[in-house]
Amino acid sequence: MTLRAVVEGIGHYLPERIVPNAEFEKTLDTSDEWIRTRSGIERRRFAAEGQSTSDLAVNAARAALAHAGLSPQDIDGIVVATSTPDLTFPSVATMVQKELGMAHGFGFDVQAVCAGFIYAMTTANALILTGQARRLLIIGAETFSRIMDWTDRSTCVLFGDGAGAMILGAQDGTGETSDRGILSSDLNSDGRYREMLYVDGGVSTTGNAGKLRMQGNPLFRQAVEKLTSTAETALEKIGLSGPDVDWIVPHQANIRIIQGTAKKMGLPMDRVIVTVQDHGNTSAASIPLALSVGVEQGKIKPGDLLVTEAIGGGLAWGSVVLRW
Ligand code: UT7
Repeated sequence: MTLRAVVEGIGHYLPERIVPNAEFEKTLDTSDEWIRTRSGIERRRFAAEGQSTSDLAVNAARAALAHAGLSPQDIDGIVVATSTPDLTFPSVATMVQKELGMAHGFGFDVQAVCAGFIYAMTTANALILTGQARRLLIIGAETFSRIMDWTDRSTCVLFGDGAGAMILGAQDGTGETSDRGILSSDLNSDGRYREMLYVDGGVSTTGNAGKLRMQGNPLFRQAVEKLTSTAETALEKIGLSGPDVDWIVPHQANIRIIQGTAKKMGLPMDRVIVTVQDHGNTSAASIPLALSVGVEQGKIKPGDLLVTEAIGGGLAWGSVVLRW
């Protein structure tokens, strides 16, 4: 018998305010046409004034709990992936814990920028497989609108706010790749690429949160190559390859990156979950949002083999293969 961390529920929350591309035409030398054709983004959501990352996270958590038919009392711990926490500390996870009325268990945050949810799923899987917890709530939640430079057209049109949550529970499997749950993962980072995507402020340097800076074009080229290789590595670890995959659930940064990766893996676009047109790049929230939407749309079904992959600041990148 092999223990597996199996998805028991999924949910998401998006802030109410929808911002179409045309809104940026009022203040920047840009166009709906440029944003659409270069990135695939048509609209994104921005959090309301006073609405924080933990607020989005709590709403997503409640949706995932409802989907699983579970209550906060059934959860042993919370892992939140975010690069835009409410405060420097405490963690967003402990804020969610309080809001859910949990006086037990543990919570902590993981920071791997856009790859955050991949790192959080991998960490949660390890905690479950080593018997530290039976059931975990994993959340990707971001308010990237708070770290945008609104005068920089090359970045501020690309990002959005949102949150997605997943519940992983311990279940017995056979050890075969036909098992439900997380089957393999692959994590990578390379700090030499820092200048490609970073925030120019922080606690121990400027003392403020700073603004996002990105070298979009070089990062684009790194993304297609590294996302393909991490997805293939995670599949190879369990003796599988591209054609075995039912759904690629990629980080939603740019439709052209998503198309390029699918092509390199030999998979058609009708086997890829795409939400970038509606959400923009929501960093660590992007994968759980896409999973939740994919389930809601009836695309992802129990038993499907999924490969999730993401890359972002660090650079940090990775993938998780799981059977739904
Ligand atoms: O989540 C982390 C991972 N993130 C990513 O992987 C993002 C990766 N990068 C990208 O998605 C793309 O590189 C972008 C969407 C950011 C840019 O697309 P691109 O095809 O790489 O364009 P580019 O950077 O080569 O820029 C082309 C032109 C430039 O003008 P010149 O120098 O050719 O005259 C830019 O100044 O487009 C210009 N430009 C814009 N024009 C209108 C840049 N931003 C805009 C804009 N509106 N918003």
